[in-house]
Amino acid sequence: MARKKATVVGAGNVGATTAQRLYERGYLDVVLVDVVEDMPQGKALDIAESGPVLGIDASITGSNGYDETAGSDVVVVTAGIARKPGMSRDDLLFTNMKIVGSVVGEVVSRSPNATLIVVSNPLDAMVQHAYSLAGLPKSRVVGMAGVLDTARFRAFLAWELGVSVKDVQAYVLGGHGDQMVPLTKYTTVGGVPISDLLSAEALDRIVKRAQGGGGEIVALLKTGSAFYAPSAAVAEMVDAILLDQKRLLPCAALLEGEYGISGVYMGVPVILGAGGVERVVELDLTAGEKAALDKSADAVRELVEVMATAPAN
Ligand code: NAI
Ligand code: 2OP
Repeated sequence: MARKKATVVGAGNVGATTAQRLYERGYLDVVLVDVVEDMPQGKALDIAESGPVLGIDASITGSNGYDETAGSDVVVVTAGIARKPGMSRDDLLFTNMKIVGSVVGEVVSRSPNATLIVVSNPLDAMVQHAYSLAGLPKSRVVGMAGVLDTARFRAFLAWELGVSVKDVQAYVLGGHGDQMVPLTKYTTVGGVPISDLLSAEALDRIVKRAQGGGGEIVALLKTGSAFYAPSAAVAEMVDAILLDQKRLLPCAALLEGEYGISGVYMGVPVILGAGGVERVVELDLTAGEKAALDKSADAVRELVEVMATAPAN
């Protein structure tokens, strides 16, 4: 039986690390695409040469084109730029919008049955843009942010409490970034509600750290943004889809009435399996959480409106 196939577009920090993690799964072949001449080929070759050491027979190839991506089951879009000093949010939005837009047509025409996982920022707007161009069902276009944001929240909680990260369960909803909404009611350690284990002040401090988690890494790295945890989050989503795991994971999905929100991509818990986003799971929210989610939806809508004013070139 042929192996499953994943394409990763953008062979920078997130893309190359994602490609490496996927290759090391061993059950799927990987194609890594970037516009920089020879670079994806070099990174793919380097990763492939680890095969004998790791005992992996799957293939990984790099390309500056898309023909090699044909027939992919999953396509991860990490192509884009990160914000640099002096750039406005709109500058980033328009540039990445153009890049993501150019990628979507190329991949969908060659892999019409793929599920797209968008990673490029600003995430919620980029996944919405990709959906608007892809001509795929909404179940087949999903954004990665919630798994990362939740992982940060879970890590900080585990470190604070001195418990295994494996026992901390949590959900972070909403848009990616400062508007994310951690759901403390659904945050437990081995099934014990977090409010029984941690003071409200400590929880508040940890929520704020999770909300600023991306910025904390940028401030330390100085030349780029996070990629180890983001790539781990993407790989978990790829496994959920390709292995039909039906995981309950927070992902950016198109809302059509769920949570009282329509027409925008938003981080919500979904069942992720072979059908992509198989369903959105609606949790009971407190009035405060619902208000925060609505505010987050407004911020995404605002970016989508800005995208509609993008210059033609
Ligand atoms: P990076 O700068 O290391 O890599 C981006 C790559 O995209 C570069 O190699 C560049 O050559 C490539 N690229 C640019 N235009 C392209 C095109 N038209 N086709 C193919 N490749 C193209 O950036 P990094 O750190 O890998 O981040 C990538 C994106 O992911 C950024 O927008 C970043 O903000 C976002 N990100 C999102 C996260 C999330 O949680 N959703 C987490 C981490 C990063
Ligand atoms: C992060 O949260 C840059 O969005 C990316 O690390």
